[in-house]
Amino acid sequence: MDKFVIEGGTPLKGTLNISGSKNAALPVIAGALLADSTVTIHNIPRLQDIYTFNNVLRVVGAKVDFNESANSIEIDPTHVSYLEAPYDLVRKMRASFYMLGALVGKHGYAKVSLPGGCAWGPRPVDLHLKGMEAMGIDISLDKGYVIAKAGKSVKGGSYTLNPSSVGATVNLLLAAVLRAEDFTINNAAKEPDVVQLCNFLVEMGADITGLGTDTLRIRKVGSLKGVRIHNDPDRIELGTYMIAGAMHPDSELKLTGCNPNQLGNFPELLRQTGTQVDINGTEIHIKAPQVIKPVSIETAIYPGFPTDLQAQWATMLTQAEGESKVTDTVYFDRFSYVPELTRLGANMHVDQNTVNISGKTPLVGASVMSTDLRASVSLVLAAMVAENSSEVLRVYHLDRGYESLENKLNPLGAKITRVEDK
Ligand code: EPU
Repeated sequence: MDKFVIEGGTPLKGTLNISGSKNAALPVIAGALLADSTVTIHNIPRLQDIYTFNNVLRVVGAKVDFNESANSIEIDPTHVSYLEAPYDLVRKMRASFYMLGALVGKHGYAKVSLPGGCAWGPRPVDLHLKGMEAMGIDISLDKGYVIAKAGKSVKGGSYTLNPSSVGATVNLLLAAVLRAEDFTINNAAKEPDVVQLCNFLVEMGADITGLGTDTLRIRKVGSLKGVRIHNDPDRIELGTYMIAGAMHPDSELKLTGCNPNQLGNFPELLRQTGTQVDINGTEIHIKAPQVIKPVSIETAIYPGFPTDLQAQWATMLTQAEGESKVTDTVYFDRFSYVPELTRLGANMHVDQNTVNISGKTPLVGASVMSTDLRASVSLVLAAMVAENSSEVLRVYHLDRGYESLENKLNPLGAKITRVEDK
């Protein structure tokens, strides 16, 4: 397992380009299985989760060509014949569960392993399954696998997601577009990742109305054609680097290739910390404040504050002057980074789904361990402003979701060395 050795205390200055979005790409890659011909997706990041998902598609018989130097992927789904996603692949990445909707939607049958828990709790898939049942798909469980069966068409009806769920919305869309006579998803997720999937499916020929709203109505079509699309930039990578640019008083970053419209009220909240945030088309300019003001936040579904930026924000607040709170209303237990930041010198404690932070405390380098993707990048943010040297262990979590992090940040002044586990 690789680790990072990080010399802290240096500001970040210069220009950094935002990569394609992981969480927006995965539903579209699954959606390619519904097509009758080849799908091409541009702006795909070179990330471990993308490699893993490509392999899931290859297992079922799709031809997947990832042109890494061009960041584009071609998927030919016309030879899919094995309608299963086994446990050893699904456990590596929960989004593999999208295979359930894609396979039953296209082929009328799917056998997909239940994903199991994750680093911060059970993360159930009950809404995916109940929604498919409501649609008329037959769902059964067998030794840790979900088996989904559907006739040539299913009646549809409606299903209300409670709570709203990105993954369930994606799976229900994938299952419905070629199968359901008339199906409505209420309280559907409105995250840009879902909107991109809807636009992609419509471009292929699907009949979906209500795009970008929380009510999606789907009426089946006979077939979907292969198309070419450009994947959105990664709004979570962008938010992470906006925070990185705010944490050292001498930092100044220009972030390019952004979609600022997908940030909700995040830029405004960052301005409230004293950070200068200037948005100009697809570029965002960040200038760090001399003193960070404490700004409490609560996560919420889109366009609220994303849970995927909660840990990074709390990390920044350890360097703010005063008391603040970060509350996660989407995942109640996503705080595994807190004990690690405490080891670096942060003053923070968790009370139910809130972390209380007192700043500013100087951070001093130590050895810390990451437990999941966003926790791991938070430790890197902290280590970059800590005195002396830190070791961030298990950066494979980070490699799942941040393309070439050290190669992007080192030219800007960071001192991050990857030590490979031989
Ligand atoms: N939920 C249920 N039952 C379900 C599904 C979800 O109770 O069947 C609950 C969850 O426990 C949670 C809430 O609904 O409390 C929302 O979860 P959601 O289903 O929206 O999450 P997800 O689809 O599993 C995606 C992202 C996550 C991101 C969440 C929330 C991907 C591959 N994953 O997960 O991203 O945190 O939406 O925005 O798109 C990450 O990138 O680090 C990451 C974890």
